Amino acid sequence: MNRRKFIQNTALTGAGIATGVSAISCKEANTTSTKASNTATTLSKPNYISISTWDTESANTASGELLAKGKPALDAIIDGVAVEEANEENTTVGIGATPDREGNVTLDACVMSPDGDYGAVVAVENIVHVAALARKVMEDTPHVIMASKGAEEFAYTQGFKKQKLLTPASEKAWKEWLKTSNYQPAINVENHDTIGMLAMDTSGEIAGVCTTSGLGYKMKGRVGDSPIIGSGLFVDNEVGAAVATGMGEEVLKTVGSFLVVELMRNGMSPQKACEEAIHRIVKKGDRYKDFQVAYIAMNKNGETGSYAIHDGFTMMKYQDGKSENIKSDYFNKS
Ligand code: GLY
Repeated sequence: MNRRKFIQNTALTGAGIATGVSAISCKEANTTSTKASNTATTLSKPNYISISTWDTESANTASGELLAKGKPALDAIIDGVAVEEANEENTTVGIGATPDREGNVTLDACVMSPDGDYGAVVAVENIVHVAALARKVMEDTPHVIMASKGAEEFAYTQGFKKQKLLTPASEKAWKEWLKTSNYQPAINVENHDTIGMLAMDTSGEIAGVCTTSGLGYKMKGRVGDSPIIGSGLFVDNEVGAAVATGMGEEVLKTVGSFLVVELMRNGMSPQKACEEAIHRIVKKGDRYKDFQVAYIAMNKNGETGSYAIHDGFTMMKYQDGKSENIKSDYFNKS
């Protein structure tokens, strides 16, 4: 059994050498890297690579193993995030997710393909695999975003099953929340949040996906950054891709993922681009102390980066048979 390692991201120093390693679990991986930082792991271009937000090892490994078999990036990431969408224990995506304040679980998702296509669904109920549904919108409709009941009805025409998303556990937690009805999104939700996943396949093509239930106990009808092109996710196959997690309102106001990709287009490393996108948020004032935002990114060379406002954010990386959980550097060191 391999011990999964947290690899301290040393990007700010530019040193490219691991500075901290601590084992946190004993899940299987083909091999486990023990050094190499977030920005310097790619001394040569990887054959394929999948990265995802948070400690989503099963999902990211599923994607990585499909890439290893030569599957296209888009197929790999949709199947990858499906692992967590179906995981009832994960309270931020798919079945078992935290509902809005009226007890409705509503999901948002989007995908972007290597050819720059985009599809999204917002505020969808009763469908678990909304990332796959977003792909259907992209590929099988003349539209790019479908919402709510229309998206749900479209799902049934495409063979998706109707499933109750509010589980006994999420219902119990919601009823407990109702006792105070205090809306204060946690900075890091159980070390999970939106799942964003980016992959480059063996042909060098990049695709991305984002799937979430949004902020727990949000107002009915609230939509965050995750399904919105350029905010929650952006892919430009000539440059790279970025995906966001955390307080969607702040990502939306800075069009964060598009910003990261454009900074990479202008020569920044994925790491520096993620840092700059976070700085655009925190420089607005002290409110950042109360919320988390994080970005992960990759460029066309398979180099990656991640950065968050607060401590606690991690990124999974599966590259050429190796799975790593990379502890992200962060802004708020006070
Ligand atoms: N980033 C997820 C949301 O704000 O909905």
